Amino acid sequence: MKYLLLSLLLVASTLLAACSKENSAQPSAPAPAAPRIKLGFLVKQPEEPWFQLEWQFADEAAKKLGFDLVKIGAADGEKVLAAIDNLAAQGAQGFVICTPDVRLGPAIAARAKAKDLKLFSVDDRFLDKDGKAIEDVHYLGISAGKIGTSVGVALAAAQKKRGWTNADTAVIAVTYEELETAKERTDGAIEALKSAGFPAERIFKAPTPKPEIPAALDATNALLTQHGDVKKWLVCGMNDNAVLGAVRALEGRGFGAESVVGIGINGSDCIVELEKTKPTGFYASVLLSAKQHGYQTCEMLYRWVKDGVEPPKDTRTTGVLIDRSNFQKVLAEQGIKH
Ligand code: GLA
Repeated sequence: MKYLLLSLLLVASTLLAACSKENSAQPSAPAPAAPRIKLGFLVKQPEEPWFQLEWQFADEAAKKLGFDLVKIGAADGEKVLAAIDNLAAQGAQGFVICTPDVRLGPAIAARAKAKDLKLFSVDDRFLDKDGKAIEDVHYLGISAGKIGTSVGVALAAAQKKRGWTNADTAVIAVTYEELETAKERTDGAIEALKSAGFPAERIFKAPTPKPEIPAALDATNALLTQHGDVKKWLVCGMNDNAVLGAVRALEGRGFGAESVVGIGINGSDCIVELEKTKPTGFYASVLLSAKQHGYQTCEMLYRWVKDGVEPPKDTRTTGVLIDRSNFQKVLAEQGIKH
């Protein structure tokens, strides 16, 4: 009996010891979750389809990579600086921006630095106080000169195909030369037209104060009053809206698809135009890679924040010519839903 009691006590104490040992061990605590990365995407013209498309692809990046995206339309300097402060207050770590004015570059870079936000510029490259590109700020934009050249080459080919003589034809270039990427585009188109043998004196610039349809329409109207003798028009501009404005102005004076060939750039802002049953003077566009401008910029910024992988300083993208014959196919291939 004594032995039995003793052995029972022994077993009980061993069990107790094991138990208390187990209790004293801390349950393995889950590693503290890394705070979710938050990035901003600021654009100068949120109403323009191009920027909506950039945002669409930025959203895709956020979803796929797992970060929070804050989209902000900022049409002037005050709004941009307020948006940066706001992002910092929300705990964001960086932002992509197409600035409403490239001369705001130094102010934006300074504010981003002060708030410890990583900065990535898209579309429109920042200028310093002397009007020179700020090469230190990471940038992704189009190969503007080359894309402009392809517009000029396509306009010259369209003229030839229609058998329009140089004597009957003239060119309208809706320009916005304050912006480097815009100037390179129209310069490229004009140079290509000249190289194809189009007379320089029949190439007219219609400077627009804003890259928007109504401003381009007014600028073209002002030009048309001086050239009542021209029978056929070729049109280029910095983007689809510049060309659309010119095409609308020409329509107002009786020039339609039979006497106008306009070729835009973006490809995103002319879909409704190309879908119209009756062709207009807006003939084609260079479809840019909104996916690279929206998704890739976000991805590069995200990797930079998360893993410290600094993106390249200067990335350039290309485009593909679309017209009524192929736009639906190409848009579908590029995942652009309308
Ligand atoms: C500028 C234009 C936009 C678009 C982008 C492409 O920002 O305003 O319409 O063409 O360039 O980079």
